Amino acid sequence: MSETPQPADLIVFGGTGDLSMRKLLPALYHADRDGLLSPETRIIAMSRGGLADADFRGKVDAEVRDSVPVDDPGVWRRFLDRLHHVTIDIGGQDPTGWARLTGMLAGHEQRDRVFYLASPPMTFGPFCREVNRAGLVTPASRVVLEKPLGRDLASAQHINDEVGAIFHERQIYRIDHYLGKETVQNLLVLRFANAFLEPIWNSLWIDHVQITVAETVGTPGRRGYYDHAGALRDMVQNHLLQLLCLVAMEPPSRNDRESIRDEKVKVLEALRPITGSEVDRFTVRGQYTAGESGGAKVPGYLDEPDNTAPTEASRQVETFAAIRAEVKNWRWAGVPFYLRTGKRMPYRCSEIVVQFKDVPHSIFPGSAPNRLVLRLQPSEGIQLHIMAKEPGAGEVTLKPVPLGLSFAETFAGRVPDAYERLLLDVLAGNPTLFMRRDEVEAAWRWIDPIRSEWDAQTMPPEPYAAGTPGPAGALDLVARSGRSWHEENPA
Ligand SMILES: NC(=O)c1ccc[n+]([C@@H]2O[C@H](COP(=O)([O-])OP(=O)(O)OC[C@H]3O[C@@H](n4cnc5c(N)ncnc54)[C@H](OP(=O)(O)O)[C@@H]3O)[C@@H](O)[C@H]2O)c1
Repeated sequence: MSETPQPADLIVFGGTGDLSMRKLLPALYHADRDGLLSPETRIIAMSRGGLADADFRGKVDAEVRDSVPVDDPGVWRRFLDRLHHVTIDIGGQDPTGWARLTGMLAGHEQRDRVFYLASPPMTFGPFCREVNRAGLVTPASRVVLEKPLGRDLASAQHINDEVGAIFHERQIYRIDHYLGKETVQNLLVLRFANAFLEPIWNSLWIDHVQITVAETVGTPGRRGYYDHAGALRDMVQNHLLQLLCLVAMEPPSRNDRESIRDEKVKVLEALRPITGSEVDRFTVRGQYTAGESGGAKVPGYLDEPDNTAPTEASRQVETFAAIRAEVKNWRWAGVPFYLRTGKRMPYRCSEIVVQFKDVPHSIFPGSAPNRLVLRLQPSEGIQLHIMAKEPGAGEVTLKPVPLGLSFAETFAGRVPDAYERLLLDVLAGNPTLFMRRDEVEAAWRWIDPIRSEWDAQTMPPEPYAAGTPGPAGALDLVARSGRSWHEENPA
């Protein structure tokens, strides 16, 4: 990013929705507060909401102000003054909104212009066509696409074709906010800016890798969405596979927009396909039943309060997924990558665990293999577990001790939210941390056979009680080879 922030127009389609209110606007406020937005930068929200600028500013004041630190009311006022609202119904017939937006953007063609699509994916294609018809796509324009990018390879290709008909690939930023997290950035730095890890980052030294994204929340009121998503589409296809790529990729030759993404695609293409009868052996799908969460009794997925009654799709959808993946290349041959994600798990935690092999010959009783734990949430940090001697005379007693890096404790100041980092990257025209078309499609290509096998099954997903770490099958998936899941509540 250049020293002086350049004026930009950020047009958030779906700017009144949950994502905008909870993530995008707070991130933009933080950037403003830190002096990272030009005084002339404007944020233009679009929705069908029929709001005047003043109404939208009032809404943001009421809904966002309490979630961000407002130490200087002048800065908050400055932020509100950047906000505008334009009423547009995509697919509707009323041209008034487009005329207003065109008027607002006229004369600012040289500015960076970012269209952030924080709206359902079926609106992506129509939005791009309409914004193009209105003549608003300039050479300096970019478009940001939120997940989910399709439901399978075919629908992802369809969206990519529709958006690609209007924007060049270099203008398209497909966001996966996990890539904006500090720990994820630090994984690259840890691997490629320190000499000691790379020689042992392979199947000779690493026994296996675990990637877990565990949530304690359920899906109350979201059945309509979740019945047709499920953990595989919602989490594995994007977040977990992106993390796997960063662990497994080869060192890129440069830290630039294409080198890192080139290496990530190679990992996705090296994933051993899981098809046919192997799906039962290497994957587990589960659905939570009634149990306890945070000390309170909670209902099962099918009994979550919702406007709609459960259907056959509800009975079949997985709220938990676990997969034993393999990267078929020289570096990783024979090293399992265990992926796991679920709702209503015992604690909230996103982490990557790299489990090293044990020493070839132990002279001490009680030794355990080293483990590197990279935590993305709740508190971002890195821990290397090494064996140490407990102080005292007599028998040598070993104890695993963590060498830790907590970002909050080590680096003074605020750890920026992933969306803040990624929004600033879009404004700076840096797509390194965004997914390229071939990456998204390679991920779907690997997921689709698992999905279609699961869809063909008549048995419902394996039940697990809310507040437990998933179904018995998931424990068995790792126990079969004498391993176990890393279970450590980070709270
Ligand atoms: N919420 C999250 O944390 C989150 C996280 C990751 C990804 N996402 C994805 O981001 C997208 C938005 O999610 P959300 O939770 O913010 O949804 P939401 O709360 O339902 O908001 C959707 C927004 O899009 C606008 N919109 C929808 N259809 C429109 C149309 N035809 N014309 C104009 N505006 C339209 C809505 O405004 P009006 O209804 O007033 O028009 C609203 O501003 C979804 O694809 C979601 O999967 C969300």
